[in-house]
Amino acid sequence: MKAVLCERYGAPEGLVMREVDVPSLRDNDVLIRIRAASAHIGDTRIRRADPFLVRLVFGLPRPRKNLILGLEVSGVVSAVGEGVTGFKVGDEVFALTGFGLGGYAEYISLPEKVKDGTQERKGLIAMKPGNLTFEEAATVPAACLTVLKNFQKAGITKGRTILIYGASGSLGTYAIQLARYYGAEVTAVCSSRNFDLVRRLGAGTVIDYTTTDIYETEARYDIVYDAVMKLNKRKCSRLLASGGIYLNNSGNPAIVGGDLDFIRELIEGERLKPVIDRTYALADVREAHRYVDAGHKIGNVALTVSEE
Ligand SMILES: NC(=O)c1ccc[n+]([C@@H]2O[C@H](COP(=O)([O-])OP(=O)(O)OC[C@H]3O[C@@H](n4cnc5c(N)ncnc54)[C@H](OP(=O)(O)O)[C@@H]3O)[C@@H](O)[C@H]2O)c1
Repeated sequence: MKAVLCERYGAPEGLVMREVDVPSLRDNDVLIRIRAASAHIGDTRIRRADPFLVRLVFGLPRPRKNLILGLEVSGVVSAVGEGVTGFKVGDEVFALTGFGLGGYAEYISLPEKVKDGTQERKGLIAMKPGNLTFEEAATVPAACLTVLKNFQKAGITKGRTILIYGASGSLGTYAIQLARYYGAEVTAVCSSRNFDLVRRLGAGTVIDYTTTDIYETEARYDIVYDAVMKLNKRKCSRLLASGGIYLNNSGNPAIVGGDLDFIRELIEGERLKPVIDRTYALADVREAHRYVDAGHKIGNVALTVSEE
């Protein structure tokens, strides 16, 4: 099969399309013919070896042999192991690929179930939302699960106020919609070019980060969510109402099997929809990574891996 290997850390030129073996299928595995993946910021950070810890996990001084990036995918089940009960050939699915990555390829093999509570590390598969394209669906798992677990941790409920900082990015656009689903009142911080978008997604108030010093604003919030990891946690305490909670993307509780199904239900119920900024062919993955590296994408960037 065709796959994009990460052969060098650093610039996107380290991504190279090669011919590799189709992954093997064990009893508990689902083999997915990948239709789309995302150019996720996590993939770009592994490619850039940022942070340095990446090298300890994926290879020092260069990426391990045949490292295929790709944190999330959508596609069609093309084979199942003998022990698989929840999926059959032909099912349309979306998935988090886990620590094994592997989404920038024509096929991926993921376990249907993991017994020891580390499902998100080994991959997590669910039926694809029927109302999304493969490209849209491929951008959902990682960011939506991150926001969902963050909000569950914060105990977000109806009527609470939340400031979402970095509201126009991947996490931010999902966060606005999930916060509204839980009934929270959203203040979105982004640049003014994205005001219309974040209002459409459900923000009641908007603040332009390019012209406003957020730490000097008057309002106080039950939750401050730094979706882009750019705020100073200590300084954020002055933005919190009494008992308020600061959140960023570190230290989320474990993802469980039902989480992705829950997200699918929200999408099919039209409570949640991915924002797609650009779509690239897998062959143009370097260009896609360059765009993500620039740090100004709106929502998500998808990769078309294979056509029907
Ligand atoms: N996405 C995930 O699933 C995920 C999961 C775990 C952790 N993380 C981490 O969370 C962070 C955000 O990820 P992401 O995927 O949401 O990023 P992203 O989509 O690449 O974020 C891009 C957005 O951030 C906005 N932005 C850039 N600088 C800003 C600033 N100083 N203040 C406010 N907004 C700013 C940009 O708006 P402008 O164009 O207007 O500047 C752009 O719309 C990253 O550090 C990532 O490693 C992400």
